[in-house]
Amino acid sequence: MEDRSDFQSMIIENMARVKKVIIVVGGKGGVGKSTISASLAYALAARDSKVGLIDADITGPNITRFFGLNAAKPEVLDDRIYPLEAYNVKLISMEPLLDYFSGSVAWRGPMVIKAIVNFLRDVVWGNLDYLIIDLPPGIGDGILTVMQVLPEITGAIVVTTPQNIALMDATKSVELLNKMEVPLIGLIENMSYHICRSCGTKEEIFPRGRQIFKEVQTEIAGKITYRGNSGQAQ
Ligand SMILES: Nc1ncnc2c1ncn2[C@@H]1O[C@H](COP(=O)(O)OP(=O)(O)O)[C@@H](O)[C@H]1O
Ligand SMILES: [Mg+2]
Repeated sequence: MEDRSDFQSMIIENMARVKKVIIVVGGKGGVGKSTISASLAYALAARDSKVGLIDADITGPNITRFFGLNAAKPEVLDDRIYPLEAYNVKLISMEPLLDYFSGSVAWRGPMVIKAIVNFLRDVVWGNLDYLIIDLPPGIGDGILTVMQVLPEITGAIVVTTPQNIALMDATKSVELLNKMEVPLIGLIENMSYHICRSCGTKEEIFPRGRQIFKEVQTEIAGKITYRGNSGQAQ
């Protein structure tokens, strides 16, 4: 593996024109991290911010699909990766880069670490107001790598669903953020409830877990409804 200080200084150089870095985390898969990362990126770009989005879920990458870029491939020139662009969001994901990575890189150590380092160091992000990083579930290599290699993380959004297990996992994420002194922007409860389209009744679709956030001294900042057939968050 190359010297850590080498790639770290290259990351710092590549991140020099990125004003704010926001990580989106959550203990469990399927709670809506990618949906919220994509919605946030879209909304910020729609308000004329310059936005980049990293799909750091290396084993289950899917962010390009949220932007309708199913077959597009980023250009790679002299080891620099040019991000895809849709709705004024620059985005990068493992999914369209699998050939590039498997063809040219001898993977040593966990793939997720290497891919995240590549995304932070080799992608031509240019000037960005926000770089949003959609992290893999849990408090493993993904979140630890970004915390270790990035000079500064502006803040984190933690995503959960109402069930106990998801809440417990989200608490672990909050504890890690506190320990690493990454500011918590907010905790979002996704799929919080569903409003029936026919009669307008508000129904909680998941059994609600105990509010266990008191231990980590935080509360849910926002709730997102479950959107039935459309499959899209509000
Ligand atoms: N509020 C919501 N209402 C309906 N479907 C949702 C909602 N949030 C997420 N989904 C759907 O749930 C699935 C998992 O969401 P995703 O954002 O990929 O989760 P994660 O990134 O945490 O694994 C996706 O099919 C997504 O479209
Ligand atoms: Mg995801």
